[in-house]
Amino acid sequence: MRKPVALITGAGGEIGHGLIAKLTESGRRAVVTLDLNALAPAQARLVQREFTGSILDTALLERILAEFEVDTVFHLAALLSTRSEFTPTTAHQVNVEGTLHLLEFSQREAESHGRPVTFIYPSSIAAYGLPDLETKARAGRVREDAFATPTTMYGCNKLYCEQLGRYYARFYKQLSAEPQAGRVDFRCVRFPGLISAMTVPSGGTSDYAPEMIHAAAKGEPYACFVRPDTRIPFMAMPDGVDALLALAAAPRERLTQTAYNLGAFSPSAAEIHARVQAAFPAADITWKTDVKRQGIVDSWPADVDDSAARRDWGFAPAYDFTRAFDEYLIPTIRARYARG
Ligand code: SER
Repeated sequence: MRKPVALITGAGGEIGHGLIAKLTESGRRAVVTLDLNALAPAQARLVQREFTGSILDTALLERILAEFEVDTVFHLAALLSTRSEFTPTTAHQVNVEGTLHLLEFSQREAESHGRPVTFIYPSSIAAYGLPDLETKARAGRVREDAFATPTTMYGCNKLYCEQLGRYYARFYKQLSAEPQAGRVDFRCVRFPGLISAMTVPSGGTSDYAPEMIHAAAKGEPYACFVRPDTRIPFMAMPDGVDALLALAAAPRERLTQTAYNLGAFSPSAAEIHARVQAAFPAADITWKTDVKRQGIVDSWPADVDDSAARRDWGFAPAYDFTRAFDEYLIPTIRARYARG
């Protein structure tokens, strides 16, 4: 019998970096990856098999299907929000059609080995769209069912794929007589901005926070592209990775909704700046608002209500704002750039 494996798409990205390490820790899980680019050697060493190619390549997905018994999919591959605004149709292809391919893949995996496939999907605060700053200030901690009117292609893609996943989990081929219909156990989080000490994101709109920190640590000047008063929720990457694993491990009957908000801390850009400046007194950070990117973050909530995730599957981030900087970001980033 084949040993079940977990498949990670977009494995070479920011989340994949931490997820591969955590999943393969002490040989816990066998991992197969799919990414457009080859993994860094340190990651490649940890995985059972690395596929290089596109999630839109159905022949490649067929090969994985033929060779591996995949029981869990972490579908991380996506174009982020700023990048998606420059190439909206490509974003739709990758973010929506790509997800459709992976859902079909999971359905067929489940049919072939007779058990549902757990499908973990990172959605985003970009799924929200608040109409103006006054509403944003008044809304406070936003619940999953409010303001589902995203203003970006990426946000539309994420919100729709949440629904697509819910359809695959509950209604797929509902008129068909096939006993195998609906074999994808779809579960999804709406991530806040993620900040990693190991990698810098590319093409996101919450990137100002990680970019500011990494630039300061490297001794490079940085012009922040949003106003100092800009506020959205953020989370330290280890908590993001742990959340995906906790959601994947949660008993199905505990889950009362498809998409779960996650929050940890919600600083303004000025508060992030103050922390960074305190840790790196020589940091050269200036403000140069990009009106379009500002418009995007202004439409995202200042904070989220994540009580459903806490209640249903015990989500509890280890890092608040102070701990994230003092115990994770600053020491890890310092060590990283000191090593070169
Ligand atoms: N961090 C992402 C972005 O900025 C949102 O999910 O696009």
